Amino acid sequence: MSTNNDQVNDYFANVEDPGERDRLIKLDGFMTDAMGGIFPEMQFHGGERVFDAACGPGGWAIRLARAWPSVQSVGIDISNHMIAYANGYVEAGVRNASFLVGNIKGRLPFEDASFDAVNARFLETFMRPQDWHGFLAECHRILKPGGTIRLTESEATISPLSPNFEKMTFLFVKAMKCLGIGYSQHGMWNTAMLQPHLRDAGYEQIKYRATAIDSSYGTAYHESVYLSYYYGGKAVVPFYEEHGMLEPGDDVKETYRLALQEMRDPSFVGLGYALTCWGRKPMTV
Ligand SMILES: C[S@@+](CC[C@H](N)C(=O)[O-])C[C@H]1O[C@@H](n2cnc3c(N)ncnc32)[C@H](O)[C@@H]1O
Repeated sequence: MSTNNDQVNDYFANVEDPGERDRLIKLDGFMTDAMGGIFPEMQFHGGERVFDAACGPGGWAIRLARAWPSVQSVGIDISNHMIAYANGYVEAGVRNASFLVGNIKGRLPFEDASFDAVNARFLETFMRPQDWHGFLAECHRILKPGGTIRLTESEATISPLSPNFEKMTFLFVKAMKCLGIGYSQHGMWNTAMLQPHLRDAGYEQIKYRATAIDSSYGTAYHESVYLSYYYGGKAVVPFYEEHGMLEPGDDVKETYRLALQEMRDPSFVGLGYALTCWGRKPMTV
């Protein structure tokens, strides 16, 4: 949808926009902490190769590479800008990480059975239901027997006391639905489908864990979630206008301004949720 590189892209934001990069940097930092660290589902012994699909500006893959200097961490993202940013860390000395521009909806540019683990987080805003099968089959191909796949997706934040914030949330879900993303008739509910997708793609020993994200005023995640909404809202407002998603009399710029104001009010209550689901490629296929 919005990109200035030559990859086909249907992401809601302009992936080459530094504002979107900054949003993802914030999001990555607090989500990795909230999920219990970098990769608690995986036992590292040294020498592993890990693929991070749609890695954004590379924060997670770099954190992994720094924590385990003998692990090779490889990220792909469709955005030239995100990958250039991630490669800045490599140039600054994180030599066990590498990043490539690419589209994860096609064939992945790796040999069969060449990774010990695959990580993919927040594909929810560009993967349509029909995209998952091909992607998970490609991950299965590049994983070694016994290799681990870990997926993390989230649902919209619940904010019962903030009407403008809530309206922005509903508009976002509607925008996703308009792009063909999500499973329910109203859009989203991706988290419920992670387990069935992994099972259908032939993975075994599937497990899951939920992470609650409390972004209420005064909590540890409030500021990061605020900034993520600040940049995310800025990116998505033009989308609503371009796609005629607004009702007569709607002033989405004003709704966005008031939503941010609501988040800054001490009464703000915000609760989000992510599901991490992981499994293994069977030893014998
Ligand atoms: C919400 S961000 C998640 C970033 C990262 N996984 C994280 O958890 O911090 C989604 C990322 O997917 C990238 N993206 C969108 N469509 C893509 C595609 N078809 N193939 C690869 N990357 C894509 C965007 O550029 C963006 O960096």
